[in-house]
Amino acid sequence: MPEASKVLDRVLVLEMVRVTEAAAIAASELVGRGDEKAADHAAVEAMRKAFDTLYMDGTVVIGEGERDEAPMLYIGEKVGGAPGRGPRIDIALDPLEGTTITAKAGPNALAVLAAAEEGGLLNAPDVYMEKLAVGPGYPEDVIDLTKSPSENVKAVAAAKGVAPDEIIVCVLDRPRHADLIAELRALGCGVVLIGDGDVAGVIAVTDENTTIDMYMGTGGAPEGVLAAAALRCVGGQIQGRLVFRNDDERARARKWGIEDLDKVYKLRDLAKGDCIFAATGVTDGSLLQGVKRLKGGQMTTESVVMRASSGTVRWIKGEHRVRG
Ligand code: FBP
Repeated sequence: MPEASKVLDRVLVLEMVRVTEAAAIAASELVGRGDEKAADHAAVEAMRKAFDTLYMDGTVVIGEGERDEAPMLYIGEKVGGAPGRGPRIDIALDPLEGTTITAKAGPNALAVLAAAEEGGLLNAPDVYMEKLAVGPGYPEDVIDLTKSPSENVKAVAAAKGVAPDEIIVCVLDRPRHADLIAELRALGCGVVLIGDGDVAGVIAVTDENTTIDMYMGTGGAPEGVLAAAALRCVGGQIQGRLVFRNDDERARARKWGIEDLDKVYKLRDLAKGDCIFAATGVTDGSLLQGVKRLKGGQMTTESVVMRASSGTVRWIKGEHRVRG
């Protein structure tokens, strides 16, 4: 069987961009309006509708929450226009990654999704995940979440052939990261603090233009799976370990079939087989330009869609005209 027939449908890969475009355009109407919930709701509704135009039998494995918490795009919800007929695809999604960013018109808000063959994505519960990521070109296992931040920086610096104080690390700006930031600064590292949006933060390690070498710290577990799908396509390594704040969160994880709660997940534990990552910028950021609204109702979007089996990365600029 030729390789192409074993992997995700190539047309479907490109079609995924329509879904993130729709969510980004909807959310962009609420950029800077101070209303996180409204922006998220607009993106969710638009993404839900756009999925129905795709010929697939999709299942949301990472979504807006569990069925009783989320009316749309909840975990387990079937999406796609060909239930029972089309290819069976698992989908991880975040219609608006960066609700606060959008409300405050900050950088790096994205509409994002990952898709894989059934069973390809870790069904991560909506808890925190400790993450450690590095870009492509390093020896396998250069990073190790069981080691200290200093040990990891030194290992990456040695592999890159530079001193540890030349390593730049991206970290979410949160009080919980005070010790991590102090340790990195004691090594002389440059620390790029981001207010939100660690999907873009992790992906930044794969882009030399950002100068970011590593991503470290704790953020959402669903975002960890989404970022891992992107790294599967463009290269790089990520490790993640779920972080539980209480027994309810532990029970949630067990419900999704996670037995070893302390497991360190590597790249292929998070996203295996063929997978797709698609994103459209809502606001301008390191990965993508946001939606621009021009005179006459015209809009422009910038999206990226990547596929693991081919390693192809496509940057797509869209012009959207309002028809009278
Ligand atoms: P939302 O879009 O759900 O607001 O997530 C934004 C985000 O910054 C993620 O990128 C990150 O993984 C998570 O929140 C961090 O969580 P917290 O804000 O609780 O530290």
